[in-house]
Amino acid sequence: MNIRFLEESETQKGNPEKTEQKTTAGIFSLETAHTLYQMKVDEQGVLLHLYYGQKTDEDMSYRVCLFDRGFSGNPYEMRLTRGYSLDTLPQEYAGRGVGDFRVSAVECVSANGSRSTDLRYVSHTIEKGHAGLTGLPYVRESDDMEVLVITMRDPVIGLRVDLNYRVYPAQDIIVRSANVINEGDMPLVLEKAASACVDFLYGNFDVLHFHGRHCMERVAERVRLPKGITSFGSRRGMSSHHHNPFVVLMDRHATENTGDCYGCMLMYSGNHLEELEVDQTGSTRLVSGIHPDGFRWTLEAGEAFQTPEAILSYSRAGLNQLSHQYHDLIRDLVIDQKWQTQARPVLINSWEAAYFDFDADKILRFAAAAREMGIEMLVLDDGWFGKRDDDSSGLGDWVVNEKKLGCPMKELSEKIHALGMHFGLWFEPEMVSEDSDLYRLHPDWALCDPDRKPILSRNQLVLDMGRPEVVDYIFESMCRVLDAARIEYVKWDFNRSIANCYSGALPPERQGEAAHRFMLGTYELLERLTSRYPSLLIEGCSGGGGRFDAGMLFYCPQIWCSDDTDPVERLEIQRGTSYGYPVSAMGAHVSASPNHQTGRRTALSTRGIIAQAGTFGYELNPEKLTDEEKTEIRQQMEDQHRYADLIAHGDYYRLTEMDDGDDYEAWMFVSKDQSEALVSFVMTHVRANGQVPCVRLQGLRPNGKYQLDGTEKHLSGAALMHGGVVFPDIYGDYPAKQIYLKLIK
Ligand code: GLA
Repeated sequence: MNIRFLEESETQKGNPEKTEQKTTAGIFSLETAHTLYQMKVDEQGVLLHLYYGQKTDEDMSYRVCLFDRGFSGNPYEMRLTRGYSLDTLPQEYAGRGVGDFRVSAVECVSANGSRSTDLRYVSHTIEKGHAGLTGLPYVRESDDMEVLVITMRDPVIGLRVDLNYRVYPAQDIIVRSANVINEGDMPLVLEKAASACVDFLYGNFDVLHFHGRHCMERVAERVRLPKGITSFGSRRGMSSHHHNPFVVLMDRHATENTGDCYGCMLMYSGNHLEELEVDQTGSTRLVSGIHPDGFRWTLEAGEAFQTPEAILSYSRAGLNQLSHQYHDLIRDLVIDQKWQTQARPVLINSWEAAYFDFDADKILRFAAAAREMGIEMLVLDDGWFGKRDDDSSGLGDWVVNEKKLGCPMKELSEKIHALGMHFGLWFEPEMVSEDSDLYRLHPDWALCDPDRKPILSRNQLVLDMGRPEVVDYIFESMCRVLDAARIEYVKWDFNRSIANCYSGALPPERQGEAAHRFMLGTYELLERLTSRYPSLLIEGCSGGGGRFDAGMLFYCPQIWCSDDTDPVERLEIQRGTSYGYPVSAMGAHVSASPNHQTGRRTALSTRGIIAQAGTFGYELNPEKLTDEEKTEIRQQMEDQHRYADLIAHGDYYRLTEMDDGDDYEAWMFVSKDQSEALVSFVMTHVRANGQVPCVRLQGLRPNGKYQLDGTEKHLSGAALMHGGVVFPDIYGDYPAKQIYLKLIK
């Protein structure tokens, strides 16, 4: 058993002012291969968090010390025990307004206008296996998983919360979510319902978070947590380029390869908030969930609200180990099973090659030139539908523009398949242009405050995906296109933040539901499409990586990482992304030089090596390539085939520390059995007469002998990990090198 409940005593104490409340005190221990997560139901029924960290079989309740702190009040039944305060006790799912002044996990307005919420333990169940969530993405079932559901109740307002803990022993992962139920007779209004709340009684932490902007997503920043509240989040209706729903709490001395690190990743693609509060006692609370700002969900009697899932993991060996745990989980239990092993096609995308300026002949010429170099799929990006020659019109009208193309999509697709290639198409399903037939017919289908002019962004509006008729319409119009031609891939874009989030389908008092209902509609559309087209590969996208999260990865095994395809910029973007997400999820392409976003010139080999730390593809005009470049791309395709499996399934190590001023970036992939590895190195600042870069490798067998590809050299894993590999001949702009290692004994 990985989940245990050890009963301490049976008491009849409860609240003396109320009727008897039977409480069973005891300890919950949730164990994974290397970690222990421990909670205690105390005699008041408060669910305390005791410990999360390296595995031990002790009762960790000795860590909770009660003593009186001024201005930290006591529950009435404990009025004689002044050290007992919800304000200082470590709690699993903190309410509000009842003596805990820190950030809360749940906030609820009851019929009399009170905002007080006080949850106490009622019962629990422990089971094997789970059916998954309905309507939301979830971490899939594993053979050895167990589920603990702890039922908490606030009897005064009739609120019940089922706290769900799923333990994945092999992955060292605990997945949390909450189901909030109105068991009373009167409506309740939920204003906050977090997915996870974890109190760290001790420790001084830095937080690693991932901020950014369009064309520079998931920049890793490590900051020391000050006293008070630090928060990151998005109110853009999408997980956003600006703050990823993933944070890592790190011991102040932790590095890539040493020290305590705790990750919390929200499996959600809409508004989110991660709060970290260091309180008066120095303990740290982490709360993650749907952003409460603007969220107001009415629960009629008997109704329930399910939060998204939060994926927790702990590593005592630094960030690389924590990343491996998330990578393995996402590869094995988040993305759809069929994409776990199936190689992803190397594609060429038409966007930076042609933008809106193409017809079928041009696309076919691209395809033929790409096929000649070994590229496997042609993706026709934006501009093939409705009236769409620039970004001012056409979204919502998913009808092939045969006039522009010069032929039906079926014909183009067949010709591409005749070349031996697969074919993919771009969609932006959740959007509508003002200048579109759909908007002229159904202006009320767009989210918009009825008394204001809409906020436009890229000339477009957002469809109200909370309306079933909108989801039906988009589903049917996408199916018409997908059924009429052979299409193996869809790029699913989302090119603006949501403003004016007002749904014409909801009454005024329920407008606080519009943003989450939007996400539920989008998930439903994705669910319907993936069920109807089980072999369709969907690549997520949102102006690059504006919706790069575990929620989207449930439906789309890969996500376009950024609209910035400059390889030097990509080093930072892909590094930041790699903390939580595997490279097999990161869409990365070789684009033209000079780069379209920055004007920077880089060697084709550098672009290739950096795009290889992703799903790998091309996004350039193949007709403009020289013969030399074509030969080099053929070689890149050969390398890709040789390394694809190692890159997609191996352990990924960052070989440089964050912000330590190195003039290079280096990373490596090591196969799970440590029999082969691939080291990639990019010099970001070449210096005359400079120090020779020496990179210490990771993850090899210390006593194994590895052959360095292309040389006669054999070196032990220990030498490579402690003495490193050196890169003496470095010259030019952003030169990149790759070393393949094979275990020979
Ligand atoms: C977004 C995507 C790009 C491209 C354009 C098309 O910006 O991120 O890759 O598909 O839309 O309009």
